Amino acid sequence: MSDVARSRNVSIGVLAVALSAAIVAVLTLAHPAAAATTLRGLAEADGRYFGTALTDGDLNISGEMNIANVQFDMVTPGNEMKWDTTESRQNSFNFGPGDQIVSWAKAHNARVRGHNLVWHAQLPGWVNSLPGSQVKAAMENHITTEATHYKGQLYAWDVVNEPFNEDGSLRQDVFYNNDGGSAYIADALRTARAADPGAKLYLNDYNIEGQNAKSNGMYNLVSSLKAQGVPIDGVGLESHFIAGQVPSSLQANMQRFADLGLDVAITELDDRIQLPASSSSLQQQANDYAAVTKACLAVTRCVGISQWGVDDGHSWIPGTFPGYGAATMYDNNYQPKPAYNSTVSALSSVTNSSSSTPTTTPSTTPSSTSSTLPNTYCKVVDEVNGWNTGLTESITITNTGTLPIENWRMVFTLRPGQTITSGWNANYSPNSGQVTATNVSYNGSLPPGGSTTIGFQATHTGDAGAATGFNLNGATCTTG
Ligand code: XIL
Repeated sequence: MSDVARSRNVSIGVLAVALSAAIVAVLTLAHPAAAATTLRGLAEADGRYFGTALTDGDLNISGEMNIANVQFDMVTPGNEMKWDTTESRQNSFNFGPGDQIVSWAKAHNARVRGHNLVWHAQLPGWVNSLPGSQVKAAMENHITTEATHYKGQLYAWDVVNEPFNEDGSLRQDVFYNNDGGSAYIADALRTARAADPGAKLYLNDYNIEGQNAKSNGMYNLVSSLKAQGVPIDGVGLESHFIAGQVPSSLQANMQRFADLGLDVAITELDDRIQLPASSSSLQQQANDYAAVTKACLAVTRCVGISQWGVDDGHSWIPGTFPGYGAATMYDNNYQPKPAYNSTVSALSSVTNSSSSTPTTTPSTTPSSTSSTLPNTYCKVVDEVNGWNTGLTESITITNTGTLPIENWRMVFTLRPGQTITSGWNANYSPNSGQVTATNVSYNGSLPPGGSTTIGFQATHTGDAGAATGFNLNGATCTTG
């Protein structure tokens, strides 16, 4: 055998080894057990997410990030998108800190819950000092500017945070007092929808997890908003619990919101323990985390769970509730606690029962990082037929998750020079650049595995290529 032939054989041998390694890698990823090793993987296997709150400070703490980079596929900025950071002086906006959280999410294939646009707390003094007649415009300007800055990048917005008193009446804050009482909430929701039609719009509050006067107030409010056609997509239950006090009505309470046609989410979960923690209080906490997880999984429209922070060492609890702490699933040394194990088992029990019929198509081109998991929300197949001055494009959207998708909004970007002249099976706006396609009456619900095909005709000035960047309800879709 010549040297050339021998070296070619060696290369083929090396290639064969590399190929079989790649096949093993693909098979490993494709196996449901691969997803079963992390909170996010287990949640994704059930069509949901598992998130955390992160501050910009957290991004520099390697112990926390070693966990966050792997375990969580949703992030809520702990403080960075609040009014006191984003508009500390009137009309002077700072999105740098929030942008860093969004960058982390992009780099880790995670989505973002925007938190928050309107809240009585962490509100700069100038808002409360405004003449009353200027408050409505200042609120609308704040919402429009911030939601426009993050347009297309967020899964959801907490549009109004903590609007209720404990008795179920609305808090009489500067917005309530100067923008029509309860009407300020509808105003805020409509303003947010206009600025970012792709984000799910939420009202978020604490002590509304069980059925009580406060959650009744929320229930009555969102019922009436729905009846009036005000854009509202979900209710966030903060879930800052005390160990042993998770309300037994949690699941039924989430279900009654879901029955109104709303998503629900556990948005800020922690479970504080009177210090020092003992093995029995840690076991109680493990039972609580499992109960919360099971309640969410039992409600089809519970879209996911977010813990407030990564670990006990950086949680907000000790600073806010003196004498309490140890509220998260990871201890001060970044080690998983019993609550982590119980959460994993709760997620696994549901995932295992449905794993015989996987509903997601595993990626055949695995990324090199183990934290990149298959997309489990949506898939897009698009076809373009072009001629010298025009084209038609047909886009098939498939729900690849296990939850129904209701009232979808698909965002994509047309090639420069393309202008939509007519469309079908969706409403398209604007007709060039970044377009939002909104469902029409008959294709708004996509059951798991369900598809709809939408399309349009466009003119072009030389580039008849396909649109890019398909994003459904804030989630990037796989293509192909
Ligand atoms: C907390 C942050 O974690 C702290 O860093 C900050 O000092 C106060 O706010 N409800 C909410 C969150 O909606 O925004 C709060 O976050 C916790 C309670």
